[in-house]
Amino acid sequence: MDAQTDSTFRSEKTPASDALMIRPMRREDIPLVAGIERQIYSLPWSGRAFSEALQRDYYLFLTAWHAGVLAGYCGFQRSFEIADITNVTVTDRYRRRGIGRRMLEVLMQTGFAQGVERFTLEVRSSNAPAIALYTSLGFRQEGIRRGYYESPKEDALILWTPEKRGNQI
Ligand SMILES: CC(C)(COP(=O)(O)OP(=O)(O)OC[C@H]1O[C@@H](n2cnc3c(N)ncnc32)[C@H](O)[C@@H]1OP(=O)(O)O)[C@@H](O)C(=O)NCCC(=O)NCCS
Repeated sequence: MDAQTDSTFRSEKTPASDALMIRPMRREDIPLVAGIERQIYSLPWSGRAFSEALQRDYYLFLTAWHAGVLAGYCGFQRSFEIADITNVTVTDRYRRRGIGRRMLEVLMQTGFAQGVERFTLEVRSSNAPAIALYTSLGFRQEGIRRGYYESPKEDALILWTPEKRGNQI
């Protein structure tokens, strides 16, 4: 396990007695993760999709745990110096506590350490919370895919981190 992806820390917004732990997703996490996917997304990733991704070394998935409860997960698919962030989810009860930001910081730090130079992702054009989170991490819109999403049909904004960002997070 990479030390950078096995970080335990205390967030100002989480109760002082309970640290948040961020660690790589494991096979045994998949049923919980897939259950959250089904609750939150109209087109969820299946357990099998996560399972196959975990077997590929060009994917990295992290999970965030608070007092033993799965609070969120995120991951990327890497292709040479580009990493596409494929999933970012925090469960309802843990939102607005800095967990999404912290997970992405750890994910991106790990990617930079592996040689990733730029991160990209797609987000529904109406998803203001996610867009605000990504913007706060340095992502900027560089494109749009009209009608990319189904259920409901919606445009995807294509966001990127700046070129030659380096390990600055
Ligand atoms: C988007 C999501 C991952 C954010 O996770 P989170 O843990 O609540 O986010 P954080 O607490 O780390 O917020 C970081 C910043 O993002 C922005 N943000 C997050 N939620 C927001 C909201 N509801 N409204 C406005 N800004 C928001 C803020 O700038 C926030 O900083 P602040 O709290 O200091 O103001 C979460 O809302 C989620 O899982 N949504 C459903 C799934 C989803 O849409 N995923 C993204 C798919 S592309």
